[in-house]
Amino acid sequence: MRIDIFTLFPEWFGWLSEQRHVANVLSGGSSIECVNFRDHTPLTGGQVDDTPFGGGAGMVLRVDVMDAALRGRYGVDPVELRRRRRVIALAPTGRLLDDGLVDELAGEPELTLLCGRYEGFDERILEHFASDVVSIGRYVLSGGELAAMVLCDAVLRKLPGALGDERSAHEESFSAALEGNPEYPHYTRPAEYRGWKVPDVLLSGHHERIEQWRRERSRERGAGEASGGH
Ligand code: 6GU
Repeated sequence: MRIDIFTLFPEWFGWLSEQRHVANVLSGGSSIECVNFRDHTPLTGGQVDDTPFGGGAGMVLRVDVMDAALRGRYGVDPVELRRRRRVIALAPTGRLLDDGLVDELAGEPELTLLCGRYEGFDERILEHFASDVVSIGRYVLSGGELAAMVLCDAVLRKLPGALGDERSAHEESFSAALEGNPEYPHYTRPAEYRGWKVPDVLLSGHHERIEQWRRERSRERGAGEASGGH
């Protein structure tokens, strides 16, 4: 998969690319490349943002700057570009990222991520250039970069070769294998610590009973989720 990230902070993504499972995928032919809006702005002094019409606090990323950056990278009108590949703007007003959307994105050959800063994007960017607007939760971050990293992490770990053990991605929280439920609890040695014992069934060596116990715990957690319980 080829991921292009449009940002004012390309150097932040160096850290992401060095993380083990990301590095694994990158060495298998995938790529993460960053484009700095500032390198493409048609305005003087590297300007990329402006004050909001109608007044109010903060600055807004300009639509003409985004147009120039996308054209500079792909050589086509961004209105056309979004018909050819997923162009995802990261914004708190977007569709909530979940395992289903992550799976969908993991199936794409190419992704373009747009990171806003300040108060966010001029709405025309979202309307005319983005194919998707995605949020990672109901809270506000200072910019889209951390959200883009969350999305990259979640998507890239689904790709072959990311994890040491391919089973880890199959039977994990929210996966179809667990009927969309959170994962069951895990334990390792010591079998008893400060009087806290690992459930006997896990030490029994009885694979069917272990499997059944895990399904039950996973379903319980799923049922508890609705009420915010643990
Ligand atoms: Cl994608 N961007 C920003 N700025 N804040 C967020 C977010 C995205 N998702 C949750 N909060």
